Amino acid sequence: MRARVARCRADAVMVLRSMLEQGKSLNDALPDKASPLLRELVFGVTRWYWRLREAAIELLQKPLRRNDRDLELLILVGLYQLDELRIPAHAAINETVKACDHLGKGWAKGLINAVLRTYIRRRGEPMSNLSEEALYNHPKWMLTHIRGSWPTFWPRIVKANNERAPMVLRVNGRRLNRTEYLGEIIRRGLGGRIDDLSADGVVLDKPVAVHELPGFSQGWVSVQDSAAQWAAPTLPVKPGHRVLDACSAPGGKLTHILERYPDIGSVLAVDISDKRVAMIRENLGRLNLSAEVRVADAGDPASWWDGRPFDCVLLDAPCTGTGVIRRHPDIKHLRRPEDLTGLVARQSSLLRSRFGLQTLPGVHNVDGFYYALMQKRKSE
Ligand SMILES: C[S@@+](CC[C@H](N)C(=O)[O-])C[C@H]1O[C@@H](n2cnc3c(N)ncnc32)[C@H](O)[C@@H]1O
Repeated sequence: MRARVARCRADAVMVLRSMLEQGKSLNDALPDKASPLLRELVFGVTRWYWRLREAAIELLQKPLRRNDRDLELLILVGLYQLDELRIPAHAAINETVKACDHLGKGWAKGLINAVLRTYIRRRGEPMSNLSEEALYNHPKWMLTHIRGSWPTFWPRIVKANNERAPMVLRVNGRRLNRTEYLGEIIRRGLGGRIDDLSADGVVLDKPVAVHELPGFSQGWVSVQDSAAQWAAPTLPVKPGHRVLDACSAPGGKLTHILERYPDIGSVLAVDISDKRVAMIRENLGRLNLSAEVRVADAGDPASWWDGRPFDCVLLDAPCTGTGVIRRHPDIKHLRRPEDLTGLVARQSSLLRSRFGLQTLPGVHNVDGFYYALMQKRKSE
């Protein structure tokens, strides 16, 4: 048992390395059966990386060698536990020190022990000359962009990006309404409330694994942020309509459309990624809904469109993901400034104008999304 606990710190280091060095997302880098502690360590260090790293640099009397990146990350894992987890300090330090053996660096135990103990001793003292990256806990280029785009709101956005997002559920109105579902939640001993920012949402007091949610496998609910739940009610779908969901995977908005409009004519769901299309099929199956699903490039309709017009098109274009950093803190690490230019060009080619509704984390109590409802003129 003890060995497994120390192993968890070493595993956290390995997952963090594959995110930082190989550019893997945390969801891809974490093993399927990752323990709650492993997830907590990995997400926590990813979220607070810049602040923790600057603390580690200050604590280390001389910088570590290049090939000791694993030890640097182990220190961050140790600091995160001391700051944020309710593990007694001596246990957190002991287990972190033991993890050196699992990393094949038993020689570093004294160093790790000394750094973490010094941290405990000096806790509460202000850190000297905190850089802007550490203060706001974002990469510098991203801060510059957020500040430039949102000169008034940027402090609230970066603060919210560092927080944990609430777990919001979307209740499948074909099965039960959200008041009934909230009753199920409370009967199960989980706290929650009706979401006043969406029509079908319930907000949980504390996030839980989906298998703990009443009726999840029977399709009673899906996990979806309040702002993402605005797409389906915004689409002016009428009975019999033919609808295209052009960038559909994993099918969050698609399944909401199908839940909300039982009299819909037909829906074609398109996505360019076959791996992600499998997720659409899985969600449709779990929710007992049906749609035609195709792996295709929405930008090349000649390759998949039969020429029959659609009454409504949902275009949830690929984006930077910077609106959902509170749920996916790895975006702060994986996104590069050069990604923005390509994505903006791709989106602009899809959207000819920039009206619409922008939500911002920290300003509105939801994830960051952009909505525009466009109607094609008869003559076009
Ligand atoms: C923002 S996500 C869509 C989320 C989805 N609407 C939902 O609510 O679950 C963008 C999706 O666009 C897909 N995509 C990117 N380029 C595409 C293209 N040219 N044609 C179709 N899908 C594309 C990506 O694979 C990704 O699944």
